[in-house]
Amino acid sequence: MNQGRQPTLGFIGTGVVGTALAEALSQAGYTVVAVFNRNHALGDALASRLPNTQSVDSAQAVADLAELTFLTVSDDAIASVADSIRWTDTHSAVHCNGAASIELLRSVQDQGAAVGAMHPLQSFASVEQARKNIPGSAFAIDTSSEVLRSTLENMVHALGGVPLTLQGSKVLYHASAVIASNYLVTLLHLASGLWSHLGLSQAEGLKALLPLVRGTVENLEAVGLPNALTGPIARGDVGTIKRHLATLGDVAPEILPVYKELAQQAIPIALHKGTIDSATADQLHKTLDGQSAGVQP
Ligand SMILES: NC(=O)c1ccc[n+]([C@@H]2O[C@H](COP(=O)([O-])OP(=O)(O)OC[C@H]3O[C@@H](n4cnc5c(N)ncnc54)[C@H](OP(=O)(O)O)[C@@H]3O)[C@@H](O)[C@H]2O)c1
Repeated sequence: MNQGRQPTLGFIGTGVVGTALAEALSQAGYTVVAVFNRNHALGDALASRLPNTQSVDSAQAVADLAELTFLTVSDDAIASVADSIRWTDTHSAVHCNGAASIELLRSVQDQGAAVGAMHPLQSFASVEQARKNIPGSAFAIDTSSEVLRSTLENMVHALGGVPLTLQGSKVLYHASAVIASNYLVTLLHLASGLWSHLGLSQAEGLKALLPLVRGTVENLEAVGLPNALTGPIARGDVGTIKRHLATLGDVAPEILPVYKELAQQAIPIALHKGTIDSATADQLHKTLDGQSAGVQP
């Protein structure tokens, strides 16, 4: 692959990520020459929407036609699909798994090809949402080749993204992403579920909570940590926390362990913010551990 020139691209796996990246890169001026999907209908549909793109009938055909092939298949299928292809030193292969290194493509590298990983730090719930969310997203890049690194960095810039190079464990990076995204969804599931006890549906609860979530995210952007923490822990309102514990214990005891653990984790943030002192922090810890007197009427 020549440094500085856009490589022709291929996609093996046209699920949400493969389709969204192929469409976005095509729109950014890259030529997607070939796509392959196990379920051919999806690959055919993608190819019909892109200029100069063939939907081919094997993964090998993509690698043969494209200078750089994205292996955008499910995580567990990346190594076996890569191993099934004959590669040469004119090829580059890139996966998008956030928790795995380029070791996954060891057999590709052994055949002389350049290998890389380019992980969009974004939640791809649907192709439409992904296309909207890609600009501004960070992309973790890991590669065996400096030429491929610069190719992938150019690609991320063309998508409006921000390339990242990580030191240390990529698994830790992925765990951080899962906490921030997937477990936020899980928290909203728990929070909105409580609205069925308030005479409204979970969907209505979610709709009412979303502006609060947006406001909180905007606060995080504007004032960062620890200043974005508000609420009873930040204020040291022990009585309010006791009322939460008592009511959740009655109505939704299954949520109590998560509530208590997150509240415990919020205490050092409030201390760091400087809005509670260590005596209040102690009281909060004891309340959450169940070591303090009950709720005052
Ligand atoms: N979704 C996200 O939010 C997100 C974010 C960042 C990175 N990623 C990464 O992007 C990659 C693709 O994920 P995705 O969300 O696009 O998944 P997806 O929508 O579920 O699509 C999975 C794709 O893999 C193909 N596939 C699965 N098993 C296969 C096999 N044994 N042989 C050949 N093809 C196979 C599927 O083909 P069929 O249609 O024929 O089943 C489909 O094209 C993964 O590495 C994932 O970690 C995902």
